[in-house]
Amino acid sequence: PHGKVTKVCCIGAGYVGGPTSAVMANKNPDLQVTVVDLSIKRIEAWKSDQLPIYEPGLLDAVKLARDGDGGRKPNLFFSTDVDTAVREAELILVSVNTPTKITGTGAGRASELSYFESAVRTIAEVATTDKIIVEKSTVPCRTAENMREILSAIGHPGVNFEILSNPEFLAEGTAIPDLMEPDRILIGSLNTAAGLSAAAALADVYAAWVPRENIITMNTFSSELAKLAANALLAQRISSINALSAVCEATGADIEEVSYAVGLDTRIGRKMLKASVGFGGSCFKKDVLSLAYISETLHLPEVAAYWRSVVDINEYQKDRFTKRIIQCLFNSLKNKKIAILGFAYKKDTGDTRESAAITVVESLVAEDAKLSIYDPRVEEEQVWSDLKQTHIGLPKMKENVTLCSSVYDACADSHAVIILTEWDDTSSGMPRMDWAHVASVMRRPMFVFDGRNVVDKSKLEDLGFRVECIGKPG
Ligand code: NAD
Ligand code: UGA
Repeated sequence: PHGKVTKVCCIGAGYVGGPTSAVMANKNPDLQVTVVDLSIKRIEAWKSDQLPIYEPGLLDAVKLARDGDGGRKPNLFFSTDVDTAVREAELILVSVNTPTKITGTGAGRASELSYFESAVRTIAEVATTDKIIVEKSTVPCRTAENMREILSAIGHPGVNFEILSNPEFLAEGTAIPDLMEPDRILIGSLNTAAGLSAAAALADVYAAWVPRENIITMNTFSSELAKLAANALLAQRISSINALSAVCEATGADIEEVSYAVGLDTRIGRKMLKASVGFGGSCFKKDVLSLAYISETLHLPEVAAYWRSVVDINEYQKDRFTKRIIQCLFNSLKNKKIAILGFAYKKDTGDTRESAAITVVESLVAEDAKLSIYDPRVEEEQVWSDLKQTHIGLPKMKENVTLCSSVYDACADSHAVIILTEWDDTSSGMPRMDWAHVASVMRRPMFVFDGRNVVDKSKLEDLGFRVECIGKPG
């Protein structure tokens, strides 16, 4: 049986590994938690007060455990020495990236498991004592089974490995509250004495702050699939509401009202029903495509097509939005200045992975528009790196795009303002925007395209703006 865990190693110091380890260390003062990564830059940033990711409440959570604020003994460490941390820990969280494959079989659809496999191989090679290995990364169903084969082939003789699935459900922007009060902790294991005892050891770590009844256990396959299923169902709700937003625009119905009306049905619920320019983020698209790909490989083409349509509607929504902008601006954007407010894929994060803003900017620059982009959290370097990867390429982007440090700089002299992120904290400048001032510095006619349905349409119309929202009559 597995004893009490005293040392945890988390491989992967990203959006999941960093915040999860910080909360785990905070809530278990006697547990030593070491987060390791191959990226020296990332680890150095975690050791400083300029953390590599922005997440409300994260710095305080990190400082408490890392620096021993409040008189605690420090118990959260960051290191690039993967081998030592792995060797010392009894429990290893593998929280590395599992992006969509870009080449080879399943390119553009299947999950790239090379980072995950490489982390597991490292564990197998360096471990000289028994380890509980925890799949924190989102992986295809049956990954644990495949990893077991690798571990038994290359692990040191006499060293036992137990693999658990323990997917993460946090959303960026709310990672700390999500981790502090998770809806559930899911642990998948083998139904053997060793599997169940490893699951119990992991459950004990969570039980320091999560009520026992919210820690659920099941078989590994179900747990792995439940993570993909959760993201697929969440993304499907957004695509459903976005598909309905197109019907609203064509009929005169208002998607906010429709969403409100259906959301009051307790069987449907209110959350994740906000129409938008399209979902972004590193996971929804990748996980839905992964589920579709798995279905395809299992000879379930109808199932694959069903899930793929969730991503198709999302692409359609982004495309529909940009087409509407072009049409409203009299089918010519050449040299028109347009303000882009928000570049992150959602509020309260600096993350731009799969942000709808990238697609919208690409389409508008293809029309030769001059764009000025403002986002309160996204680093300039990140915007250029994202734009470089579009079909347009960096030189043309640099010619047509300016990055601004305030909403007003972005809006000055523009023909249109496009809202792509629903920033609502006052420090971002967006919710307190002085629209009367914006009106005084814009060109006529003035357009606002609200990709997040956050502006007060009638108030802006009174100021002389023509306002186009998602799923509302023009
Ligand atoms: P990330 O890219 O922010 O971080 C992953 C880190 O792993 C990187 O810093 C990378 O350098 C490191 N890494 C890769 N291979 C390594 C190796 N062999 N050894 C050491 N370090 C290695 O990724 P993320 O957003 O934290 O996502 C991690 C996993 O969690 C993914 O599977 C993702 O699907 C899942 N997930 C993410 C979120 C989210 O909100 N971002 C939420 C739930 C689940
Ligand atoms: C999502 C899930 O919510 C998490 O549970 C999951 O752990 C995570 O993916 C993951 O596996 O990575 P995240 O992508 O960070 O989290 O953020 P969400 O709040 O789900 O938003 C995703 C995208 O959908 C954003 O672009 C957001 O603006 C958009 N969205 C969200 C809508 O357009 N409408 C909504 O009603 C909700």
